[in-house]
Amino acid sequence: MRKIRTYKEVQHSTGSEILEQVVDQLGQLAARLSTVGTVVAVASGKGGVGKSAITANLAAALAMRGHRVGAVDADLNGPSLGRMLGVSGMSLGDSPDGVEPPQGVQGVRVMSMELLQDAEDTPLGWRAPDFGKFTWRSTLETGVLREFLADVAWGELDFLLVDVPPGTDKIERLLELLPDLDQALLVTTPSESARFVVSKSLRLVQEAGVGVVGLVANMTEHECSQCGHRSSLFESGGAERLAAESGVPLWASIPFDPRLGASTDLGEPLVTKEPDAASSRAILALADRVAAAAQAGANTQ
Ligand SMILES: Nc1ncnc2c1ncn2[C@@H]1O[C@H](COP(=O)(O)OP(=O)(O)OP(=O)(O)O)[C@@H](O)[C@H]1O
Ligand SMILES: [Mg+2]
Repeated sequence: MRKIRTYKEVQHSTGSEILEQVVDQLGQLAARLSTVGTVVAVASGKGGVGKSAITANLAAALAMRGHRVGAVDADLNGPSLGRMLGVSGMSLGDSPDGVEPPQGVQGVRVMSMELLQDAEDTPLGWRAPDFGKFTWRSTLETGVLREFLADVAWGELDFLLVDVPPGTDKIERLLELLPDLDQALLVTTPSESARFVVSKSLRLVQEAGVGVVGLVANMTEHECSQCGHRSSLFESGGAERLAAESGVPLWASIPFDPRLGASTDLGEPLVTKEPDAASSRAILALADRVAAAAQAGANTQ
């Protein structure tokens, strides 16, 4: 039963009533996620490093290993996870327990803003008053994300992955909603500029006390399809440096593989199509690390 009141309903509102609502909402969120084993945020801070492609392939890889998996596209303005997991054009169901998410590749349950938009090229419009636009937008975005997590009938899941959009502020907002986040995977490329941004994100999740943090280096090297020669895409080795400086383990190094991009972007994560490709093997090994860390966490509880 939703208890969220509109501002009109909250007449003569006092600060404490608003606070009561917020506490209520966070309570609903915790209750919903009590049937989810492990929540994993796939984040970076940096844009375009492969967060969504990795989330899609990781979700499929965990499902291939027999786990029950859900995935939330927290990118409200540029959703891409739904397409990558093959639920574009599918409808959301309605049940007394909440919104029913469609099942995509390998039975992964997916919630994305894309499923709420009429046409795929409709940009998301936020109606906000002229003053304080930033604050309004942040509040609306946080509200939508909370509903994606709390009002969706996720059911029993072993893993719920959250594809976090670029910007360190988005990581902060997710942590406000999920203060007990189980795992954070921070995606970086070996470039120096990625290292700089991701080091800030790393600090954020560490200071928030996230139990398990792993680094994922993406687009590390490229193998020539003609001659098989392997070369680094970036020279700086930023991911290894970041791991060494922070003491956070590097959980995966995923090579650049044009097939991964082409296949995943069309709704077929490469792990399902070519599990023996080097990039797929790296992602399957990442899935095993995520599952092992979840198991270790469950054993200590
Ligand atoms: N290892 C890889 N090899 C080849 N292509 C890749 C690889 N990783 C990601 N891609 C492709 O690169 C493009 C950008 O990746 P993606 O959209 O996952 O990045 P992102 O970090 O989610 O971006 P944004 O910050 O905009 O959300 C996509 O087309 C994706 O399929
Ligand atoms: Mg993305």
